[in-house]
Amino acid sequence: MLNDEMAGILVKAAMDARNRAYAPYSHYQVGAALLAADGRIYQGCNVENASYGATNCAERTAFFKAVSEGVCKFTAIAIAGGLKGKEICDYAYPCGICRQVMQEFCKPDFQIVVVKSETDYQVMTLAELLPHGFGGASIV
Ligand code: THU
Repeated sequence: MLNDEMAGILVKAAMDARNRAYAPYSHYQVGAALLAADGRIYQGCNVENASYGATNCAERTAFFKAVSEGVCKFTAIAIAGGLKGKEICDYAYPCGICRQVMQEFCKPDFQIVVVKSETDYQVMTLAELLPHGFGGASIV
């Protein structure tokens, strides 16, 4: 379980990563902070592309940074998203593709923290956001 102190650290790190979003098309800036089982934190932001389908979400940026460095076990992720220059007005739930990437590397009790502000956030699990997920165990 994520304690309040670590949740707060992840929330701040997600909001910080959001400042580095490359989102010239949607202007919707997302930051993520992924907590590995060994305590390291990987930040990610969305990276858009003029060929829209080449865009990478913040969550997957964080996952791919970690996995590409050999880190594949995770405990939690915080996600903060909102339009550039405006207060965040809603919790940013991960998109379906990002939930599927979480399914690849995380257990059902993986904690997902959706952030409105440093003090206003919700914690839920991957099992809640992706029930009956499809994973590698289904195809071996
Ligand atoms: N986006 C994310 O970074 N994460 C999500 O889970 C949903 C969407 C980004 C992709 C795109 O750059 C922008 O938000 C608008 O869809």
